[in-house]
Amino acid sequence: MTEPKRQSQAKMSRSMGGPLAGVAVLPPGLEEAGAAELTSLGAESVQVLRRAVAFRTDLKGFYRLQLQARLPFRILRELARFSCDGPRQLHDAVAGAADWDQWLPPSRSFRVDVSGSLPGLAHSHFTALQVKNALVDGQRQRWGERSSIDRDDPDLCLHLHLGRAPGGRGGMGVLSVDGAGGSLHRRGWRAAVGLAPLKENLASGLIALTGWDGSVPLADPLCGSGTLLIEAACRQLGRAPGLDPAGNQPRPQLLGHWPDFKAALWAQEVKAAQGLAEAPPPLAPIVGLEHNADVLEQARANAVSAGVGDHVQLQQGDCRDFQPPSGPGVIVCNPPYGARLGGEDNLEALYADLGVMLKQRCSGWSLWLLSGNPELTGALRMKSRRRIPISNGGIDCRWLHYEIR
Ligand SMILES: C[S@@+](CC[C@H](N)C(=O)[O-])C[C@H]1O[C@@H](n2cnc3c(N)ncnc32)[C@H](O)[C@@H]1O
Repeated sequence: MTEPKRQSQAKMSRSMGGPLAGVAVLPPGLEEAGAAELTSLGAESVQVLRRAVAFRTDLKGFYRLQLQARLPFRILRELARFSCDGPRQLHDAVAGAADWDQWLPPSRSFRVDVSGSLPGLAHSHFTALQVKNALVDGQRQRWGERSSIDRDDPDLCLHLHLGRAPGGRGGMGVLSVDGAGGSLHRRGWRAAVGLAPLKENLASGLIALTGWDGSVPLADPLCGSGTLLIEAACRQLGRAPGLDPAGNQPRPQLLGHWPDFKAALWAQEVKAAQGLAEAPPPLAPIVGLEHNADVLEQARANAVSAGVGDHVQLQQGDCRDFQPPSGPGVIVCNPPYGARLGGEDNLEALYADLGVMLKQRCSGWSLWLLSGNPELTGALRMKSRRRIPISNGGIDCRWLHYEIR
């Protein structure tokens, strides 16, 4: 190839942002933060969608995202996109979507997840069956045998997204492979669940939005099972979410079954992820208070299993008695808001008391509070500077930012 041609090809692949297209599925409200994270990890052509971010990268980039991205639930690699107007067309499009002899020989098990819907394909279970039938019909013809379905521990996890084609003309399907078999919010450190815990990726995204950088104290006076503080510590200490905190080895993933898997590239990315935690910066105090002794024990167990037990100081106590370390710093919290933990009767008093305590003892600190109930946050008698809409397990919440005076 001539030099100008090579240069123009390189330019084209740069402007396209890498040879492979992907989508990271995110908690609603964290799309912008997710886009920033993926960009910082080298993804290109990053585009914010609803509950997701589209991007381009190469294989190495997929490996890096799988190991280091803290916000996504799933990282999907696109295999094909096709127009789709019903079950018959879906069947044919899936059959021709990839070199299935490479991607899915009959010795490998698989699972199909579905999101979205189209006329004639309104039920995800039925749609998944059409995808499965297309694959196993082809296998029977070519091999005389078929793959088994394994919902819990498949070798290949396929994802089909259905929606309207851009411009609203007809339907469209996007068939992808998931780099992991389960949701990436499960980091492997949660020994115990607490009362209404936040998902790990959501907690990490909320911390990212505060801008806390480890140089000032971080406190959660209603810390529950400790998710916000543990994820904050992991983030600052460079603990890659794709590595098992116990052995610092990669947690189970499926991209090793992809036919173009490159063991040497994967090993490089694993080493890079392990290296992030090698020289951790000094951290300001990270402190948590929880009034329920059993939940506090869970928080302690979680911090230890995440490998940050020495960095997070957890105490039993009532948030009204919270004594901040010398600051100012950042307070994060997710107080009960009635939707999941008991009634709202005494919650208004709790919020009012919390507001009084914060103003008396934490002047100059920044407060970030996850609220699912605006009436309760009104009882704080404080004026928020920012209100970021966030969905917490389907509950419409706000991540509220206050400067405490
Ligand atoms: C919604 S949960 C927090 C969940 C936490 N973010 C997590 O991920 O596990 C609220 C927590 O506040 C605790 N709590 C309620 N009232 C409290 C009080 N007065 N002082 C301290 N903790 C309190 C509850 O026991 C519960 O664990």
